Amino acid sequence: LAGDKSSGLSSSDDKAASDAGVGFANLPNQIYRRTVRRGFEFNLMVVGESGLGKSTLLNSLFLSELYNADHMGPSKRIKKTVYVESHTVLLKENSVHLRLTLIDTPGFGDAVDNSNCWNPVLDYIDARFEDHLNAEQKVNRGQLIDSRVHCVLYFIAPTGHGLKPLDIEFMKRLHDKANVVPILAKADCMTLEELRDFKKTILNELAQHKIRVYDFPESVLAAAAAASGDSNAASDSCDDEKSIKRLKDRLPFAVVGANCLVESASKGSSGKVRGRAYPWGSVEVENLEHNDFLALRNLMLRTHMQDLRETTNSLHYENYRYLKLSGIAQESKFRTTDGKDPMAQMETEKRDHELKMRKMESEMEGVFEMKVKEKKQKLKDSEVDLQRRADQMRKQLEQQEAELAERRRQFEAEKRAWESAQAQGGGGDYGDSGGGGGV
Ligand code: GTP
Repeated sequence: LAGDKSSGLSSSDDKAASDAGVGFANLPNQIYRRTVRRGFEFNLMVVGESGLGKSTLLNSLFLSELYNADHMGPSKRIKKTVYVESHTVLLKENSVHLRLTLIDTPGFGDAVDNSNCWNPVLDYIDARFEDHLNAEQKVNRGQLIDSRVHCVLYFIAPTGHGLKPLDIEFMKRLHDKANVVPILAKADCMTLEELRDFKKTILNELAQHKIRVYDFPESVLAAAAAASGDSNAASDSCDDEKSIKRLKDRLPFAVVGANCLVESASKGSSGKVRGRAYPWGSVEVENLEHNDFLALRNLMLRTHMQDLRETTNSLHYENYRYLKLSGIAQESKFRTTDGKDPMAQMETEKRDHELKMRKMESEMEGVFEMKVKEKKQKLKDSEVDLQRRADQMRKQLEQQEAELAERRRQFEAEKRAWESAQAQGGGGDYGDSGGGGGV
């Protein structure tokens, strides 16, 4: 709906709408105009150890000095205990206003003992859900400002070894509360092969620990095209889906951030670009051949910002709301004669039922996997058996062939002997002739 074509209602659009029907086909345009007028909110959290380039990346993402990080050296922020700080900026691109809130978590993972250092971060996310829940329940709700965390960029240190226990513990606790996007910080510290192996290791570890990261669904564009009912938009969305797939295949994104401009060395471009200059060359931030920064920015801001907002609302907030309200129901004074709250009881039964179903499902999956394994083993065995029998038959055939060849050779020899005897003796019997002129 937010495509350029529908960005404003031209007089020809007006005419077409009035020609085509009573006019409610114009509703999407009305919604579009109202939404643009209202503006959008996007709340982005960055988490990771100090010095991994969080502030620098945020500045690079929004092309402005959102953070006053010292670009000549490490950040000058000195507080090192974990706390959460947020600041909001109003951005405008074309006619669209964005209320961007950046949430930083200084001190995360910086202590000698980092146990529970994730609590302030998780508490902050819950507190924003709580604010939203309270605001929704007010008699006079007015216009809600969405302060829930829509996306968390989790920075992984470029160690080349894999995830640290802190990364795993934190992401395990976080993935049910927010959309997590893993970022490999300071990608320029690694060679291409190291980066490829590092990404593979991280993906394996995420799968192994059942950590669900936000996976940038390709279907968002098809859904938008279908909603607009435009067939051209639908075919464009197929191409876009492919390009989304290409970009998301780069997950986890290995990024480089920079606050300075360097001379571009890329073919076909000249002038200054955001990058990092080294004695042996320069890394350009917005160059897909150098790092995944553009993939991250395009997916997060250009194609999936709305999906991140919707997923936060429909999945993470709903989870929180469900748990919260079922908790409140349990504490409710309204009790049945046996002293139990019927709502809470229903919720507990529902949860128990779900747990039971999940358990059954996993058991059935286990049985299914076992059966598949057995079947595969049987197939393998019979393949080996077949192979063995085929080898055996081949050997027998070779043996028979050799015997036949031998017999043929003997027969030829006898034939030759008989023929020469015939030629010499003028027709004596071959073989059993005894003495009379034969052999
Ligand atoms: P805190 O503010 O302490 O949490 O650190 P931070 O994670 O915000 O890091 P910051 O952006 O302040 O960057 C720390 C240092 O790393 C600075 O000297 C940056 O110039 C440098 N830096 C930032 N991004 C990159 C990068 O992609 N590659 C390299 N090699 N250095 C980077």
